[in-house]
Amino acid sequence: MTIGIIGSGAMGSGIAQVAAENGCVVYVNDNREEALQTASGRLKALMKKLVAKDKRTQEQADNILENVHYTSKAEDLEHCDLVIEAIVESLEVKKEVFRWLEKIVSEDCILATNTSSLSISAIAAACHKPERVIGIHFFNPAPLMPLVEIIPALQTAAQVIEKSKALIDSWGKVTVIVKILLDL
Ligand SMILES: NC(=O)c1ccc[n+]([C@@H]2O[C@H](COP(=O)([O-])OP(=O)(O)OC[C@H]3O[C@@H](n4cnc5c(N)ncnc54)[C@H](O)[C@@H]3O)[C@@H](O)[C@H]2O)c1
Repeated sequence: MTIGIIGSGAMGSGIAQVAAENGCVVYVNDNREEALQTASGRLKALMKKLVAKDKRTQEQADNILENVHYTSKAEDLEHCDLVIEAIVESLEVKKEVFRWLEKIVSEDCILATNTSSLSISAIAAACHKPERVIGIHFFNPAPLMPLVEIIPALQTAAQVIEKSKALIDSWGKVTVIVKILLDL
């Protein structure tokens, strides 16, 4: 499975690690080259520490590092099965990024946001295919926090909810589906 992550800050980096630890190939995108370099350096340092503490074997650490690709090139996201956006908490910026993403990824790719407070339905409404948009809300730090909220937009297709839940469950997380009664 190929996962795209937009934003290599606290959340994006942590989610990328979780996905890579579970055998996914991950492309982490950021519009700041220095953020990508920082995230890459941080993951390398963390893996070194975990190996030193016998919490990962050298082989596991090498596999994780090989699985995560840091890129500022949009086209690297084109083969993703799921893209999780974890950028600045701004509805306008997220809408713009989702519109941009839709032009890059395949028709079947699920588009998720890690937003803590914005309307998933409003983000979905900006998209050509709103039924593939969903909230997948990890807590900080993502590698350590077991709970992940699956937050459908009003427009999200049932199959997208099921697929998202099954994938995050397979990463060893505890998922809850959050029912939105009124999404403003
Ligand atoms: N930090 C938390 O405790 C926490 C917990 C749960 C959810 N969230 C949510 O996760 C999201 C990210 O939060 P964070 O704390 O990781 O933020 P952050 O500031 O640490 O990282 C955001 C990253 O996104 C990049 N970015 C900004 N605009 C971009 C764009 N257009 N394209 C590509 N990259 C872009 C920035 O360069 C930065 O590296 C937010 O929506 C936030 O509400 C945060």
